[in-house]
Order: sequence, then C-alpha cells, then structure tokens
Amino acid sequence: MIMDVRLILLFLLLLFASESLANEEIVEKDEDFSEALLLRPLPDRKVLAHFHFQSRLPPTNLHGRHHHLFPKSIFQLVQKFHLREMELSFTQGRWNYERWGGYDPIASSNAKPPGVELWAVFDVPQHQVDAHWKNLTHALSGLFCASINFLEHSTTYATPEWSFRSSGGNLKYGTLPREAVCTENLTPWLKLLPCRDKAGLSALMNRPSIYRGYYHSQRLHLMSNEFDSNGLSSGIVLDQTLTIVLQPNILGTGGVFSSGSTLQPSWSLSSLFGRKVGGRCVLSKSSNVYVQLDQNLVSELQKVGKENEGSHHDISENFWSDPSFEMSVPPDKKIREVESLDSGGSSILYEFSVENYSDSKPFDLGFRWKVPLVWSCQQAPLSVSRYLMGSGNERGSIAISLKSNRMSHRMKNVDNNAGECWLRVDLFQVVPWYVKVYYHTLKIFIDEELQSMADTVEKIRVSPSEDKGLPGVMEMTLRLPCGVRSAALTLEFDKGFLHIDEYPPDANQGFDIPSAVVVFGDFETSMHLADDDSLNKIPLLSKLRDNNRVLAYTEVLLVPLTTPDFSMPYNVITITCTVFALYFGSLLNALRRRVGEERRLLKSKASKKTSQLSLLLPKLFAKLRRKSWEPPNQSSSSSSFNYKLIVKVLLVAGLAVVWQYYSS
Ligand SMILES: *[C@@H]1O[C@H](CO)[C@@H](O)[C@H](O)[C@H]1NC(C)=O
Ligand SMILES: *[C@@H]1O[C@H](CO)[C@@H](O)[C@H](O)[C@H]1NC(C)=O
Repeated sequence: MIMDVRLILLFLLLLFASESLANEEIVEKDEDFSEALLLRPLPDRKVLAHFHFQSRLPPTNLHGRHHHLFPKSIFQLVQKFHLREMELSFTQGRWNYERWGGYDPIASSNAKPPGVELWAVFDVPQHQVDAHWKNLTHALSGLFCASINFLEHSTTYATPEWSFRSSGGNLKYGTLPREAVCTENLTPWLKLLPCRDKAGLSALMNRPSIYRGYYHSQRLHLMSNEFDSNGLSSGIVLDQTLTIVLQPNILGTGGVFSSGSTLQPSWSLSSLFGRKVGGRCVLSKSSNVYVQLDQNLVSELQKVGKENEGSHHDISENFWSDPSFEMSVPPDKKIREVESLDSGGSSILYEFSVENYSDSKPFDLGFRWKVPLVWSCQQAPLSVSRYLMGSGNERGSIAISLKSNRMSHRMKNVDNNAGECWLRVDLFQVVPWYVKVYYHTLKIFIDEELQSMADTVEKIRVSPSEDKGLPGVMEMTLRLPCGVRSAALTLEFDKGFLHIDEYPPDANQGFDIPSAVVVFGDFETSMHLADDDSLNKIPLLSKLRDNNRVLAYTEVLLVPLTTPDFSMPYNVITITCTVFALYFGSLLNALRRRVGEERRLLKSKASKKTSQLSLLLPKLFAKLRRKSWEPPNQSSSSSSFNYKLIVKVLLVAGLAVVWQYYSS
C-alpha cells in the first residue's frame, strides 16, 4: 500500500515537473512584439526619426499555426510563396548621403531609392522562381494598395547574382521609381502592427507631420527559415521600419551667438509630430525611445565641455542637463559605444522607457540646445552620383562618378597584401529595354585618366536587354587604388521606340531609369555596443549592432524618349471637322435660302385669299362664349394680333383650370 502511494506521488511529481517544463518552453518560444523609436539630430538642423517594430513568430512545425500577434497576411505570404527573405520599401524623397550620413547602420539599411523597391529570395527550385515572383507582386499589390503588380513583367525585374547580395540565383529585384507614396500605403502597413496606430509609439504617426518631412521611407523586411530541411527553424521575423527626416519648427529658438553661428533648433515629440506618446502598446515586450548623438557630434560636445569647465571631461554625469543641451525628461539609461580601433569616436544613446506613461501622463521628450554646434556626419569612402550626357533625342551616355571622401583612417579595413591597397566597389544597374546600352563602350576613368578594363574591373557580368523581353543588367566589381580621388564610368546608349500602347499617360515627362546600387564590399558599419544581455533583448539595438554592408543608391535618371505627338490625331480631327462644317454649312445655307425664297413667294400669293384655317379657331371660341361671330377685320392687323393673344392666354388659363379640376 505504501509503495502504491509512493508510486502515485512520484508519478504526480513527474507530471507536474514535465508540465512546468513544457510551460517554460512555450513562454520562451512564444511570439513577441517590440517597438522602439530612435531620434537623432542631424547637422543640417533637421531631426531623423526612425521607428522600428519587430514581430517574431516561433516555427509553426513546433508551435502550430495559431498566433495572436503576428500578422496573418504575412504568415500566409511566407507559406504560399516559400519566401526566405523579402524586403519591400516605399520611399518619397532622396536620402542626402552628404548631410544625413552614409556610413552608419541606419543609412545603410534605411536609405532607399525613391518609389517602390522590392526584392525577395525564394526557397523553391530555380525554374519556379519567376512564377512565384509574379504571384507575389500581385499579392503585395493588393496588400499595400500600390501598383507593385507592374513588377510582374520580365522587363521590370532582374536577377542579381553577387553585386546586390549573394544568393543562389533565387533572388529577384525590381523597382518602380515613379510610384507615389502616400497614406494609402501607410495604413495597410500599420494594420500589420498589433496596436495599429492606436497605442504605443505608432500613435505618433500623425499623417500631416510625417508627410511634411524631407524624406520618408517605410520598409518591411521579412526573414524566415520555415522551409529549412534540417529542421533548425527559428520561425519568421518581421521588421517594420519607418524612417523620416523632419524639420523642427524654428520658432522661438532664434539665438544668434557672438561667433555668428546660430543655435540648432530645439524640438520635442509634440512639436515634431503634433502628438505625444500616451503609454506603450500593451502587447509589446519592450517600448523605448532613444536619442542618439553621433560620433562627430559627441567629439564636438566633448570639446565644448572642456572649454566650459576644465574638469568636466565626461559629459554624461549630469543626465538631463549637459553643458551643451538639455532634455526635459531624465533618461533611464545611457548607452555609450565602446571605442574601437577603426572608428573615429563613439556615439551615445540615451534610453527612455515609455512603460510608466499613460494617457493622463503622456510622454513628451523635449530637447534644447544651449550652445551652437557644427558637425558633420560619417561618410562612405566614396560618394556616388549618376548623370546623363549627350544631347539630342537619339544617342546619349550614362555616367557614374565616384568621388573620394578622403577617409584615409578607415582604409585599414581594406585588404593590404603585397603592399598594394585596393578598394573594391560593387555596382549593380538595371536599365529598361528601351534604353539600349552598348556595353562594349564602357570606359573607366581614374583620376581623369582612361584605364584599361583589365586593370580596374575585377569581375563583370552583363546581360543585354531584349526588346520587350528583358532589361539590361550590369553587375561589376571595380578595383580602385586606395589613393583614388575620383573615378568615372561611361556607357553609351541608343533610345528605342515603344509601341503606342506602351507609352504611359504622361510620356512627355520622360522615362525613369531606376537607381543603381553601389556597395562598398570591404566596409561594414555597426555600433560597437557592450556585450550586454539587456541590450541584446532590444531588437533595434541588436539591428544597430549587426554588421551592415555600406551601400548607396544613385539618383534616378530621367531620359526623354521620342514620343509620338499625341495631340496630332486631335489636330487632324479638328481640322477635318472644321473643313466639313464649312463645306456642309455653306451648302445647306445655299439650299435653305432658295427654299426660303420660294416659300416667301408662295406666302405672298396665299395671303391674298382668306385663310380658312386661321379663321376656324376664333369661330370656335366665339361659339363657346355664346356670341355671334364677327369676321375679323382684315385691314387692322394690330387688333387681330391682340385678339389672337387674348385667345392664347384664355386657352392656357382654361387648360390650367381643367387640369386643376381633374387633378383635385
Ligand atoms: C500563380 O497564380 C496563378 C493564378 O492564380 C496560379 O494558377 C498559379 O498556380 C500560381 N503559381 C504559383 C507558383 O503559386
Ligand atoms: C515603472 O513603475 C514600476 C512601479 O512603480 C517600477 O517598478 C518600474 O521600475 C518603473 N519602470 C521604469 C522604466 O521606470
């Protein structure tokens, strides 16, 4: 008996233990959501706001298909199209690499080309990739209210092999440079968030203030390894970011200092967005606001700190009131980048948790400068621009120019074997088929001297365009000497002819050639944050910490093509109609005039006899009025006219009376 009880107890114990274990595992592997906002003052008196939302879904083969936070539509996309990775961005405006930075994690992953950019990696055999891409563009087009379905034609997308990012041929890339981005694209994007824009940080997204900005890019990035054969799936990770560059209201901050420099504008969340944060989204795991001061700004601040108070080396001790700026809310935490060998300095992040705020006590961070400061952003090793050359409507050439930013201290990264120092630059350019590029005319100039291809091009892949079939794609790895000051590439092209159906409605505006992508393969940017567990838990920080490839997009080119004169058919129709109208008009006029003359002749004959018909009506009315009828006086026409008028008025009145009688 005792044995039995013991056994039962042991069994119960085991049962509880296993249950609690299982519970723990579920809690650990549950889906989660987190939100963060990063604000950064920019050197040109603007403010960068970067919203980051992350949703994670545990692998479905272990945890089933029921989820309460992760958007179902995205899960279905992954399931249906076997997506391994996908990125979709909607951008309005052009990222200013010179003023807003080209060498930091936010610029390299959130500076996007204007319009729509979509790329996706599929987990299917290569011959099915195109069919999946087509269906994916249609699905996304419906999901985001945009004309992404225009990317289904084989003339609009390309398959980059190594220059854009390495993938085993399953990557497809397409852009729509002229897509206009507005609220109808933002609303479906916000619908994917568990709190939409009703609570949490997304409540700041007041449409008029967002779209007033200088740059605005809404991005959705999706990573999944649901279909890994080895079963080591980590589920789906969905990152949604919104990056905006805003101009703070300068009102009330005008203080000109003795040195002649003006103070940077002060700002607050309510002045930037017109709203405050009324607490966090209750479904989010973490909800933080960060203020980032970038490396060059921090070194400027340190200089100011030294000038003001000799002893004040560390600007950090006094949290919310620094010698050069002050913040209306004391930060919960200060995160300082660990100084590393190759970076020029270290940036600082101030963390604010919005956990303990509510609608009655909203979070509104204010930032005010005390001294004027001038600083510049970190630049990529080369700055890139692309332009058109040539004149006329037939031939032209595309030029891509690279200019050194003189960042000699960072050239250490570059591989330096045998005493030679090379800088590798990957270039990826897609050109629509109606711009026929002659790739054999490629010329490369380094420091304004023509170079041979063999010396400078390490790798090149060209796929020429096919009329109404394929776009022209060029991928290239350039090898430039480290001391290069400028480099330029030129390619000649001819303009093709389109069928009349293929012209867009405003063909005279010109045709867009999508941005080229320039990747500096030897460089990576990341924030060197201390290896702290509490930092790893915040997705925004772990993103900033990841190594990002440094890349830059060039301008979109506007090529004027020969367009048919669409007003000509209209002109022809108008002229023909005028001629016809003149001819038939005069003909009819001539014919009618003769008829009229004859009629007049007849009338003059007829008027001599008394017209029986004209006498009939007055006779009738006279009878009605029981009066003897007197034949009208032929000689006095005025009295007969008056008589007729009276008769008419009476007739109308009689009709009205009859109508009144019958209707009532
Ligand atoms: C794409 O959509 C079409 C039409 O709905 C369908 O017939 C086809 O099977 C789909 N292809 C893939 C690969 O999903
Ligand atoms: C929020 O309030 C709770 C309770 O008052 C406190 O324990 C917690 O530390 C606060 N959190 C923050 C980030 O201030």
